[in-house]
Amino acid sequence: MKHMILGAMVAAGMMAGAGVAVSGEAEDKAIKARQAVMQLYAFNLGKLGAMVKGEMEYNADQAKMAADNLVKAASISQDAMWPEGTAIEDAGMEGKTWAKKDAWTTYPEVANKHKDLQAAAAKMADAAGGGVDAIKGAIGGVGGSCKGCHEKFRAPRN
Ligand code: HEC
Repeated sequence: MKHMILGAMVAAGMMAGAGVAVSGEAEDKAIKARQAVMQLYAFNLGKLGAMVKGEMEYNADQAKMAADNLVKAASISQDAMWPEGTAIEDAGMEGKTWAKKDAWTTYPEVANKHKDLQAAAAKMADAAGGGVDAIKGAIGGVGGSCKGCHEKFRAPRN
């Protein structure tokens, strides 16, 4: 009997502990996933930027690949990557995320900023195969859409 009660208490304690650990872990994973999408944006926009700056020789296939990747990355649904309680202002979030609470409280403004990026990325995909000047014409729109969202919804890092 004593053994059973102890066993039940241990099991209950483990479950409570596991519950806390799992939810924190789930939040961390969601944050990492959205940051990973951002890294995909940055990597592919970086390729196009390097061609514009002449740091990388223009190559139509490479340019199209980067622009298509941008379109694809921007079409990934991020709905599950922004759970409540994962803003930089939330408890325990410092050093994990730089997303501002305003992204949640002013919703759907952040979703509209995401649509701006999707539209700009589509224009880039149309332009990218047409030479450096065509990329130059489209890159401001993409960069502007990143900046437009960051200015409102991302806290400065460091
Ligand atoms: C709809 C809003 C939005 C758009 C559009 C957007 N970002 Fe972000 N970005 C954010 C937010 C919010 C964060 C902070 C995420 C976090 O730390 O949880 C972020 C973080 C980042 C980071 C840091 C990722 C990390 O590893 O911590 C990079 C790099 C980045 N964005 C690049 C870009 C680029 C490049 C574009 C445009 C092609 C872009 N973002 C478009 C909102 C956006």
